Amino acid sequence: MDLFLDPESGEPLAGQLYEQLRRAITGGRLLPGDRLVPSRQLAAELGVSRHTVATAYGRLVAEGYAEGHAGGGSVVAASPAPPKGVNRSGPAAALRPARRFAGWSPYFRPPPYGCRFDLRPGLPDPTLFPTLLWRRQVAAAVSSEHREYGDPAGRIRLRRAVADWVARSRSVAAGEDTLVITCGAQHAIDLVSRVLLEPGDCVAVEDPGYVPVVRLFTALGMRVVGVPVDDQGLVVDLLPPSARIVYVTPSHQYPLGMTMSMPRRRALLRWAARHDAAVIEDDYDTEFRYVDRPLEPLQALDASGRVVYVGSFSKTFSPSVRLGFAVVPQPLAEPIAALRQLIDWHPPTAMQTALAGFINDGLLDKHIRRSRRVYAERYHILTEALSGPLADHLTARTPNAGLHIAAFLRRGLSENEVLHTAARSGIVMAGLHDCFQASPAQPGLLIGFGPVSTTGLPTALGTLGRILAS
Ligand SMILES: Cc1ncc(COP(=O)(O)O)c(C=O)c1O
Repeated sequence: MDLFLDPESGEPLAGQLYEQLRRAITGGRLLPGDRLVPSRQLAAELGVSRHTVATAYGRLVAEGYAEGHAGGGSVVAASPAPPKGVNRSGPAAALRPARRFAGWSPYFRPPPYGCRFDLRPGLPDPTLFPTLLWRRQVAAAVSSEHREYGDPAGRIRLRRAVADWVARSRSVAAGEDTLVITCGAQHAIDLVSRVLLEPGDCVAVEDPGYVPVVRLFTALGMRVVGVPVDDQGLVVDLLPPSARIVYVTPSHQYPLGMTMSMPRRRALLRWAARHDAAVIEDDYDTEFRYVDRPLEPLQALDASGRVVYVGSFSKTFSPSVRLGFAVVPQPLAEPIAALRQLIDWHPPTAMQTALAGFINDGLLDKHIRRSRRVYAERYHILTEALSGPLADHLTARTPNAGLHIAAFLRRGLSENEVLHTAARSGIVMAGLHDCFQASPAQPGLLIGFGPVSTTGLPTALGTLGRILAS
């Protein structure tokens, strides 16, 4: 099993080793009874002290994942147990989720261990994160905290900062009274949908589309209908007349990457007005555009107040900060704030204050400009590979924006097999198949270029080419 320790990550090496082994055990890659490599040997292989390995093993034993053997050495426990004091066989074992949640587990998983090249879609590069500048903002925000419950719509300072920023950068008409701060775009879509819909209502989504949002609508008890997309985006003529919400990604269709054309935008707005429906415009990554200028958002074109504009700081800044926002028509603002208060009140106020400072000091714009230059280079490396060495095996839809490119697999290649073989070579990507609802699924790859380094990307693509050729 491949183990990778990063001495520069700031995490203690023993902790990194413990975590990788624990995940290998809970993920089934190490099975009950499997011997852990003797500590002296593993220490030599990894170039760490024996004490580091012994500390990691000791913790695995203490927490019931491994057992020490009388003759020395450790093996994976017969039934890797939860920590002492946690009893899984008590009355809670009788509980079952509601039928619509049966068999559910989280959609996104951390990359498997042994991952050398992270080509997952839609993720920014964590090494670009402006740690020092952010730390300063957070420290100042914590010192000036009021330590009270905050406004459920979000801190006024942040709402003003985001409203100005989104007006400046995207021509979105937002004011502090119509902007709600959320824990990311997904959360914004959740709040807006709950306030707009009754259980059983019909929601139209792009097909193929963004799976977590489709799942969210299902979790909310909605009837979800997939509507095909073409080169101009969602095919408006195929929308079900009963749809109460149309969820779209017009700047950069997820996953295929096309931009919704201006005639299609206008047709969608006319359709929504005729059918008294709402439109959720998910503008999750438009800041990373490499080729042309973005078109006017639906929200700016909308004259009848039926578009909700959703944005996220997960790509422009970091998904770990968990902040996003929705710009909503006035009548929705107060009910959303009321609902928000009942659920989790608001995101941590210090984080909100810190982000407001970061935006107001011009640091977000600077960070985006810098990141865009880095991603543009990776985008060009990937597009060249897709039109060159990979073109025999993949047909790419080259988008103008974003942090990934979707590519269909040549006939005869199995998506699953390619993903698994790539994972065995240390490359992690996502497949296209899952993104389809009703339309016939087409096998393909979603190749991200956010987290992988600019020097590592050509190596990863070379390996991918060899895998596809074999
Ligand atoms: C299309 C789309 N919408 C929404 C999101 C969710 O963003 P957030 O992290 O802000 O919830 C993502 C994240 O990858 C996405 O790709």
